[in-house]
Amino acid sequence: MCGIVGYIGKRDVAPLLLEGLQRLEYRGYDSAGVVITGPKATGLKMVKAKGRVRDLEARVPKRFAGTTGIAHTRWATHGAPSDENAHPHLDAENKVAVVHNGIIDNAAELRAKLIADGVTFLSETDTEVLTHLVARSTAEKLEDRVREALRHIEGTYGIAVLHADFNDRIVVARNGSPVVLGIGEKEMFVASDVAALVSHTRQVVTLDDGEMATIKADDYRTYTTEGSRTSAEPTTVEWEAESYDMGGHDTYMHKEIFEQADAVDRVLRGRIDDRFSTVHLGGLNLDAHDARKVRRVKILGCGTSYHAGMIGAQMIEELARIPADAEPASEFRYRNAVVDPDTLYVAVSQSGETYDVLAAVQELKRKGARVFGIVNVVGSAIAREADAGVYVHAGPEVCVVSTKCFTNTTVAFALLALHLGRIRDLSVSDGKRIIAGLRRLPAQIEQMLEREDEIKKLAQEFAEAKSMLFIGRVRGYPVAREASLKLKEVSYIHAEAYPASELKHGPLALIEPALPTVAIVPDDDLLEKNRAALEEIKARSGRILAVAHREQEKADHTIVVPKNEDELDPILMGIPLQLLAYHTALALGRDIDKPRNLAKSVTVE
Ligand code: G6P
Repeated sequence: MCGIVGYIGKRDVAPLLLEGLQRLEYRGYDSAGVVITGPKATGLKMVKAKGRVRDLEARVPKRFAGTTGIAHTRWATHGAPSDENAHPHLDAENKVAVVHNGIIDNAAELRAKLIADGVTFLSETDTEVLTHLVARSTAEKLEDRVREALRHIEGTYGIAVLHADFNDRIVVARNGSPVVLGIGEKEMFVASDVAALVSHTRQVVTLDDGEMATIKADDYRTYTTEGSRTSAEPTTVEWEAESYDMGGHDTYMHKEIFEQADAVDRVLRGRIDDRFSTVHLGGLNLDAHDARKVRRVKILGCGTSYHAGMIGAQMIEELARIPADAEPASEFRYRNAVVDPDTLYVAVSQSGETYDVLAAVQELKRKGARVFGIVNVVGSAIAREADAGVYVHAGPEVCVVSTKCFTNTTVAFALLALHLGRIRDLSVSDGKRIIAGLRRLPAQIEQMLEREDEIKKLAQEFAEAKSMLFIGRVRGYPVAREASLKLKEVSYIHAEAYPASELKHGPLALIEPALPTVAIVPDDDLLEKNRAALEEIKARSGRILAVAHREQEKADHTIVVPKNEDELDPILMGIPLQLLAYHTALALGRDIDKPRNLAKSVTVE
């Protein structure tokens, strides 16, 4: 959602900014804009367009030279997607340009005051308020003008400000929306996401909330919104520019599904301790004494991460015998939950930016809880806010819908469950068994992905369905939930997930030949129960696709998945269903990497 990119240096800035915006496209947006200037340029030059970055590019005039600029992709919150509402926003004299991620809560009030003072607004956005506030400040330095403007603002922001009279610098500020500086050789970048920077530099400085920065071509400085200097040493980003390329695949989703064996290898690397049949989780900071005091585990996440958390809760209960459950962070934060000192709270997020998760973490910390993060993006807001945590090392995930990160998060949960289990009652031999199972995963994922052609054929059949039912029992239920979500997100086919055990309590009424059922049927102690559910569906002429460890007689088709340890089976069983969602969406001609109405990181409420 919303993206910022900025540059100051010697190079022709417009192509650089447009390339940066393209790298941010995956986050989801509906309009884009760019404003530039430079030592030789007089004033600010701006182009904006509703639609894609390529629509913006088509509008950029031939002569659009400059060496400094800021650009933005917008996801509409205040005001519909339109050219006028796209960022940047300029003041009446075309001197101040602002791009903004986040939401200004008191925008309506500030707007009314400014209008009463004679200011004319050109857009319906909350951001334009900020532009006029900066323009009205008479402070000597641009930094002070921005600071003065921010003093009036309530809400969240990541901003970049350009001023025609101070064209040797860009001033940025962060409060709740990421801002990253990219340090180059006599050039400097700024962005809301490292994706926009890594093809130019991997030396970055991530601002904290309440921090501002001034970037010049050969220098940068960071300070608090109150003005005191902060030390911001650059760190090196692990992810390489190539990881953001499509690498021969037609879509990022396809690429990311096929990266899963390597990704799982990465989350395991260096963490297994064969001597004690356990794992080392360096970032966890939880000694055995404290780990034994944990009486409950509560997992919070949204969307796919919530489903990974459901699988995680199941693993923690099974391996560590600690009561555990997962809940959507978006619900948890609004229900004034009872916060218990003996509960370990785990926040799960691929991006580390999801606002609902971040808000839940902040609320928990305010109430004195201990919060762990299971996060993919290193240094992201949730990773920083959490007391400790585990990075899932899936690498950058560009497709809006999550695949490899989901899988890696479930593996990270298996590691956490094993760790907690071995501190408690999980035996050495069970520890060994789980470790051996974890080590088998990458090869089994490869084996699974070899079945792509078979799944593609099935998908062509399912593309005709108006609706689909996904069922699973206990370990299989979160797998069914995630598979159903994946199908809806990319193919727009309505899908519903239900515990198989609940079939007879309602959903059986839906069964007819036109409603296909996907059943998760692991070879575990519930196999016979699951088979009974298949019988019930078959008896009502329902069409069944089973995902199982062996052929299921009652199913019209079985995708046979390699068997692992019972507790780890959910990790593998979702993978063929990612391919099913992918090929169904492909058959329907959907925009796979950027499904309609969705954003990769939902950074607003
Ligand atoms: C958005 C995305 C989902 C994602 C969810 C949580 O809604 O569209 O695909 O699962 O956010 O994202 P996170 O980055 O916190 O895992």
